[in-house]
Amino acid sequence: MQTLHVDLGERSYPIFIGEQLIDRGELLSRHIRGKQVAIVTNDTVAPLYLERLSRSLAAYSVTTVILPDGEAYKNWETLQSIFDALLTARHDRGTTIIALGGGVIGDMAGFAAACYQRGVDFIQVPTTLLSQVDSSVGGKTGINHPLGKNMVGAFYQPQAVLIDTSTLTTLPARELSAGLAEVIKYGLICDEPFLGWLEANVDKLRALDQAALTEAIRRSCAAKARVVGADERESGVRATLNLGHTFGHAIETHQGYGAWLHGEAVSAGTVMALEMSRRLGWITASERDRAVRVLVRAGLPVVPPANMRAEDFLQHMAVDKKVLNGQLRLVLLKRLGEAVLTSDFPREVLEATLNVNYDALMQESRT
Ligand code: NAD
Ligand code: GLY
Repeated sequence: MQTLHVDLGERSYPIFIGEQLIDRGELLSRHIRGKQVAIVTNDTVAPLYLERLSRSLAAYSVTTVILPDGEAYKNWETLQSIFDALLTARHDRGTTIIALGGGVIGDMAGFAAACYQRGVDFIQVPTTLLSQVDSSVGGKTGINHPLGKNMVGAFYQPQAVLIDTSTLTTLPARELSAGLAEVIKYGLICDEPFLGWLEANVDKLRALDQAALTEAIRRSCAAKARVVGADERESGVRATLNLGHTFGHAIETHQGYGAWLHGEAVSAGTVMALEMSRRLGWITASERDRAVRVLVRAGLPVVPPANMRAEDFLQHMAVDKKVLNGQLRLVLLKRLGEAVLTSDFPREVLEATLNVNYDALMQESRT
């Protein structure tokens, strides 16, 4: 097992990474203060891992909350059902909420923990690659609004993150690829050598090679912990973790939550950010194509949906959380391995980027 730390003063916490950690109850017990525990999961993950996790928590009074699966349920109604279950089972302020599942469960259970009785402890047990490398670390919690992704939420750090890499063996291949979008993101924004490592190892990752997965998760979590430790509330560098997300969130919202997986939308959005960075003269066409090739090899879409026009993007992007004083800010690449958050770009370059025929561009870049 490997242990990393997110350094945030009194809100610091460990990230445990290893195989079969769900059975290691002692890792969880160290971070549970009371006698009550509520495991929040969904109807896909529960049959796979709930019994084992419950066994690890046999010393506690455990309530299980099984939510319907899907991004479409990351909303007020589902959140309310978590509070219903906690109150019905009389959970007090000493309770600990444990999120068992992907990013949807982690974001919702974390937000429930931030709100329930003005804040109770919570632990992340992420079971998708995306949640293991990104959403379980850093304390962003929340739900979607019909008008915008993740528009209602709180910064609220967990007590610990327990990453059991063996859970990825049951993850559908499409979901694994979606997680790789966020892994590749770290290479692009802050770790160019990691991009090289990914080029050499992406096939092993897709084949679920445990050593390669552990290394990718460790390096991703280390990058995320570093960025969150420097800027917990996203007043600066943390925004760079959102490479491709402003375009990607527009895709998710426009297509209807769940139609495109978050990582798929981030992948197509990343290609748009790469293309815009190239148009600004910050990266070359061959650097853009190098990044696109890794996304393609990871099994990810690199072309935005055919039904989206430039106006659709602009409309959704206007409600992005990075809009400040009415001004759109985007995460772009100064070079491979270095991202910036900037509003300093000509509007025409953004519009030209949105109007690119990405199918044709991908054809060209292959030839
Ligand atoms: P998800 O939570 O919807 O999980 C994907 C699918 O895999 C679901 O059907 C889930 O039930 C299933 N699943 C989970 N673990 C499994 C396993 N081990 N075996 C088989 N099936 C399994 O999606 P996700 O990609 O994990 O997370 C996406 C969400 O995370 C989005 O809502 C996004 O906004 C959010 N997110 C949050 C942050 C953050 O910092 N908080 C960062 C990135 C993404
Ligand atoms: N996923 C972006 C962040 O945590 O800031």
